Amino acid sequence: MLLITRELPPAVAARAACEHQVRQLTGPLDAAALEGVTAILCTPADRFDAALIAQLPATVRVIATYSVGLEHIDQAAAAARGIAVRHTPDVLSTATAELALTLMLMAARRAGEGERLLRAGKWQGLTPIFHLGTGVAGKVLGILGMGRIGRELAAMARGLNMQIHYHNRTRLDPALEAGAMYHGEDAGFLEALDFLSINIPGGPATRHWLNAERISQLKPGAIVVNTGRGSTVDDAALIAALRSGQVRAAGLDVYEHEPLVNPGYLELENVVLLPHIGSATVETRDAMGFLALDGIGEVLQTAS
Ligand code: DGY
Repeated sequence: MLLITRELPPAVAARAACEHQVRQLTGPLDAAALEGVTAILCTPADRFDAALIAQLPATVRVIATYSVGLEHIDQAAAAARGIAVRHTPDVLSTATAELALTLMLMAARRAGEGERLLRAGKWQGLTPIFHLGTGVAGKVLGILGMGRIGRELAAMARGLNMQIHYHNRTRLDPALEAGAMYHGEDAGFLEALDFLSINIPGGPATRHWLNAERISQLKPGAIVVNTGRGSTVDDAALIAALRSGQVRAAGLDVYEHEPLVNPGYLELENVVLLPHIGSATVETRDAMGFLALDGIGEVLQTAS
């Protein structure tokens, strides 16, 4: 029995139903919902902490998540119970990089603010000084976390004539770097940037990476974009910097306490706020679902 915690895209739901007996979760994840379950297909909105994993019946062999991020699953607790964990890397890199680029351009050109103004009937026509933003061509994009998504974003930004710098635990091979400048330290990295894209995973090691101290090291007026995990940003520090102008604008797709958004952001015109849609394309969500089903199938075959 495959337990599905959220509604799936039609093509993925159809394949799941061909391959498994399926139960759609409609209420709490309690003993009745879990009875006879061998596999669970969940999302980052479902938290599988140690306490919940301890309560799973012995029949559960695999938890697959509709995400590359795994922060919501206590992997050690799952391993201790012999439960495999599967996720959906690679297939969402292009879609997520596209969304980071969307946020960069929207923040730089004040697109959200302009649309709100127009819809509110406040547009009074073009003047040479009306609604000025900033361009991206020739600017420095700093990518924090040059993994698959970061590298896709770098390739797209090169096409816009941006210069790419990156900060990673380790330096990439020159072929993967593709001319990007590596920074081993925060300070030199942050002060070089016009745009910062955060592409690191969440979890305790990266919590509030972008804090007041690092924000003060950014070039004044830099633009910050986050499509990784909301927990990597100290919201209070970013909001203060957006108010002071130390950060010119921001584009956010992820939040520390989703679906709650720090109300401080809602009052600001210079922040673009999207509802965690980095991988939300029809093609990508199908590919993620198929990959998750592949992982479930592999585990159940070896377990039986
Ligand atoms: C992921 O895959 O981790 C995304 O944030 C969810 O689409």
